[in-house]
Formats: sequence, structure tokens, C-alpha cells
Amino acid sequence: MKLHEALNIDLDEINHEIQNIVARDKDVPKKSQLAQSILELTGSGGKRLRPLMVIVGSRFGRKPSGRRTLQLSAAAEFIHAASLIHDDIIDDAELRRGAPALHTRTGVLSAVHIGNYMSARVIELLSKYTGDKNRYVHDLSSVATAQLCLGEYQQMEHAYDYNLTFEEYLEKSRNKTAMLMATCLRVGALSTESPEEVADLLYNFGEALGMSFQIQDDLLDFTQSADVLGKPAGSDLRNGQVTLPVLFALQDPELAPVIRTIGPASSEEEVADVLALINRSDALARTEGVSQDYLDQAAAIIQRLSSYPAHADLETLLQYFAGRDR
Ligand code: FPP
Ligand code: MG
Repeated sequence: MKLHEALNIDLDEINHEIQNIVARDKDVPKKSQLAQSILELTGSGGKRLRPLMVIVGSRFGRKPSGRRTLQLSAAAEFIHAASLIHDDIIDDAELRRGAPALHTRTGVLSAVHIGNYMSARVIELLSKYTGDKNRYVHDLSSVATAQLCLGEYQQMEHAYDYNLTFEEYLEKSRNKTAMLMATCLRVGALSTESPEEVADLLYNFGEALGMSFQIQDDLLDFTQSADVLGKPAGSDLRNGQVTLPVLFALQDPELAPVIRTIGPASSEEEVADVLALINRSDALARTEGVSQDYLDQAAAIIQRLSSYPAHADLETLLQYFAGRDR
């Protein structure tokens, strides 16, 4: 069963709302490259994890969910999609979900502007929800994007930095991935007037899931073939990303000097050799252990929310993240 089915969420409704974000912008002609690119991009599938998290969060509120919750869920996907356009340019990735990345079709300059428009359009769209009571809306519309940018900046700043600390790695992962997921659950809950402390617990739950998600993503770069990834395996290492498996492997005095030789000028063979060494070490199992610790934290939060019927949906999300294959 698909995740949205297990959660009893109508994906068509969310997809329609996502498309509306650009289709209803009266300043953008429907036939323009801008509108067409976004409609194509957002129409090309995806699991809609972040919108689903908004809807699940809304099930912890005192009021039924309505248009606002739906718009927040669509906005979450828009922010995510915009960030992936930029991410693929930064990573020089040819493929996204097995299809040509947007910048390979429109050129980099157009793709940058499309991504910028999308993130600004979310702020424009959600700005109608003003006032002190609705401050949480801005946590999604603007704060979450700022955190994504910060996480991405931290990642770039530490390219090929083999002295990166575990704390720095975790902070970057939190900014780049976990905070958006955490915010989705929290704003969903507040959109239906959940108690603040429940929204905060949901935030912590989403953050733990998001950390596990990013760590699993970093593991896939070592364990999956290019076919499955939809991009060349080992891309992170080649691009200088010091992920958790690399940090653990760096603790091995025999591996560390070899890993430290990898730089922007390294050959494919050198990268492949280091990938194989890391694969044979205990680094992947230790990384898996950290991911599991985050899932355990998430499970403990579900216990604290067990008086809410919707805690079963958190369990469904947890199971999905625990067994996820992208
Ligand atoms: C995926 O990383 C990328 C992110 C989780 C966020 C990237 C954020 C930005 C580029 C900032 C965007 C800014 C604006 C204004 C929209 P990955 O490369 O580890 O994952 P992948 O394997 O899916 O490419
Ligand atoms: Mg990328």
C-alpha cells in the first residue's frame, strides 16, 4: 500500500493545490516557460512526503482541517521542489528521479530564476495569513527556506573538509533536511489549533524522522547502484561531501590517510577505491546505528501522543521511514 493510502489522504487534492500555486498566479502567463516548467516539474510525481506530514500534523488539532491546511501542504512541496532545482544545479546533477534535471532542459540561468520564483511565490501566497496568531505560517513560508539555504551553505563551506565534526555534520543535516519536515508537522498541527505543546512534540518527531532520512540518504550513496539512485553512485564523496559514513571511516587510522587524499582533482579510480574501503569497514553499520537512534527517539514521542487517535498515523510515518527505499 502506498504511504498516502495508508494515511488515508487524497493525493489528487494535494496535487491540484500544488498546481494551483502557479496556475492561479495572474502575473504568470499559463503558456510561459516559467509556468510550463513548474507545472511539468510538480506534475512529475514524487511521494509528497512533506505535504503528507502537514496533513498528519493537522489531525492533532481541535478544529477540522480546511483550505488553509491544504495550502500549507502544497506550499511545503513547492519549497521542497524549488530547493531541489537549486540543489541539482549546485551538485551538477543530470538526473532527478531518473528524469533529466530541470536545468539540463532550460539552462542554468532559467532554472535559478524558476527556483527563486517558486520560493518567493510561497511567501506571497501565504502572506494573507497575517497576524500574531498565524506566526507559525511564516515558519514554513520563509524561515524553513532560510534554513534550507543555510544548510546548503554549510555543506558547501565544508566541501572536502575532513576535519568536519560530528556536530557540524548533524547541524548541516538538521538545517538542510530535518527542519522542513519538523516544520511541516508543526504548522499542520497549528493550522487546526492544536495545543502548542503537541505541535512542539510533533516538531521533535519530524526532526528525528528527518535526521534519520538524511542519514539514510547519505548511506544510499555507498550502498546503491547508479540505476537505483538515478545518479552516479559515490557522487557525494566525489563532490567532497563529508557524510556520516565518511566521518566514521575517518576514525580508522588506516583508512583516514587514504580518505584524506580525495579532493576535487581525484580520478574516478581513486574515488571508487575509497568507496570500496568504506564499504568494507564498519562505518556503514555505525551510520545505520545513528539512524536507528533517531527512529527510536521518534518512537518515544509517539508514546507521549498515544491519547490522540492520530498517533497511529505517526506510527505509519515511522514505519515508512524505517523501511524506506527511495
Ligand atoms: C538535497 O540534497 C537538497 C536539500 C535537502 C536542500 C537543498 C537546498 C538548497 C539548494 C537551497 C534552496 C534555496 C532556495 C531559495 C529554493 P542532496 O544533494 O543530499 O540530495 P539528493 O540526493 O536528493 O540530491
Ligand atoms: Mg543533490
